[in-house]
Amino acid sequence: MASEREVRAGLQRAGQEHLLRFWAELAPGPRAALLAELAPLEPEALREHCRRAAAACALPPGPPPDLAARLQPLPPERLGSVSRSDPETRRRWEEEGFRQIALNKVAVLLLAGGQGTRLGVAYPKGMYRVGLPSGKTLYQLQAERIRRVEQLAGERRGTRCTVPWYIMTSEFTLGPTAEFFKEHDFFHLDPANVVMFEQRMLPAVTFDGKAILERKDKVAMAPDGNGGLYCALADHHILEDMERRGVEFVHVYCVDNILVRLADPAFIGFCVLRGADCGAKVVEKAYPEEPVGVVCQVDGVPQVVEYSEISPETARLRASDGGLLYGAGNICNHFFTRGFLQMVTRECEPLLKPHVAVKKVPHVDEEGNLVKPLKPNGIKMEKFVFDVFQFAKNFVAFEVLREEEFSPLKNADPADRDSPCTTRRALLAQHYRWALQAGARFRDAHGAWLPELPSLPLHGDPPAVCEISPLVSYAGEGLEVYLQGQEFQSPLILDEDQARVLQPPES
Ligand code: UD1
Repeated sequence: MASEREVRAGLQRAGQEHLLRFWAELAPGPRAALLAELAPLEPEALREHCRRAAAACALPPGPPPDLAARLQPLPPERLGSVSRSDPETRRRWEEEGFRQIALNKVAVLLLAGGQGTRLGVAYPKGMYRVGLPSGKTLYQLQAERIRRVEQLAGERRGTRCTVPWYIMTSEFTLGPTAEFFKEHDFFHLDPANVVMFEQRMLPAVTFDGKAILERKDKVAMAPDGNGGLYCALADHHILEDMERRGVEFVHVYCVDNILVRLADPAFIGFCVLRGADCGAKVVEKAYPEEPVGVVCQVDGVPQVVEYSEISPETARLRASDGGLLYGAGNICNHFFTRGFLQMVTRECEPLLKPHVAVKKVPHVDEEGNLVKPLKPNGIKMEKFVFDVFQFAKNFVAFEVLREEEFSPLKNADPADRDSPCTTRRALLAQHYRWALQAGARFRDAHGAWLPELPSLPLHGDPPAVCEISPLVSYAGEGLEVYLQGQEFQSPLILDEDQARVLQPPES
């Protein structure tokens, strides 16, 4: 452990000695905690971090004035689309994806270091229950989809296979996430195949470049953004772990999309067959102001322009077919080859430019009183996971259907978008559609038939409550055996055990 003298010398070099200004009045415990927090901050990097934050803040707010002129939509040859491809092509993608999974070459990597500020819960978002009849959390749904995709791939190729689950956490989320997985017996996954690692934290900085003290004995720190992934991969030797396991392809995704298809064979297969080193799933943006990044080109290079960084005028531009010109919405589902990740962590990470968020940061004043600011007073700097797209040799995007694959949990109820209520509805509507497609029919409490496709409402609650365990079906497959020609009254919960009960006897 570094001594006070060493830490003080480092802070002096970084121009941040004020972080020790309450040292004299701290008891031994808080002193040790503060030293432990400060010691890992490398002086030159800290100086540069604070300098950059202040410099970025001095720039006029909003997107760079010339950004609009440098943007172009992604060329069509880089784009694959589920809805615009024929069944045979989709089957080939899927087949290739399952083949790679069965060969143990595919891993999933969850970005779960965020603080979930908008949702406003004190625990990691993955532990959230959106109110499904089964009471499942986001983590449980994801774990069960991993188990199911392993099973499907294994069955096709007559083997047993593993999709390792890497989970990037932060100081805020590691402890509770690890505890939650233990409590739930890793959702019946082998703990050896669930690898949690922690991203770095960075100090929040004032507008004049000083790191902020949150308490007398604590710096105001925040995770370094989901693009902190690349440092974290190197810090914890994760790519070496992947190499040992023979993993070649990694599906990186964010925690909050209730419909996420982990290790989606179609996406993996599409990227592999295209020889891509880097790929992104997209959905058509629902409306110009939708808070999703836009996958496009900047100066001819594939990139994502984040929703906070695109001007409303550019977001509203229309293409000749009437759709949004920049309509390829990023759903934070990315494909990377291990080779690409290796190249990025070794060579490109320092080139990633941090993004600036101006926030209200609680702090102590000169006298040591706690202050909860009413207006923004600090800067948080974050790297974004998609900022490595610019380094890809062969970047592709893969367009999927929103109602099948994207419904994120961002806001607390009663928000009308991206809330527990809207995500729950999206999942239940999807399962109702799957059940109807598999030949089920539903009656209401009075015995009247409920509507079938295509008269289903796109928004609002589905006519019947139907929840299907991911252990029974990953993407709507295999349900006929339980549902074909059967009548149900809402609610129908098809879980692993019921599926066994419902299964017709062997002939
Ligand atoms: C993100 C995307 C946005 C996309 C949207 C779709 C980024 C930077 N932005 O936006 O383009 O349209 O999802 O829903 O990817 N996280 C960390 N560490 C951090 C910060 C975040 O692991 O330091 C994780 C979060 O836990 C979450 C994911 O990154 O799983 C996305 O973070 P969030 O802040 O929710 O991104 P959005 O603003 O919603």
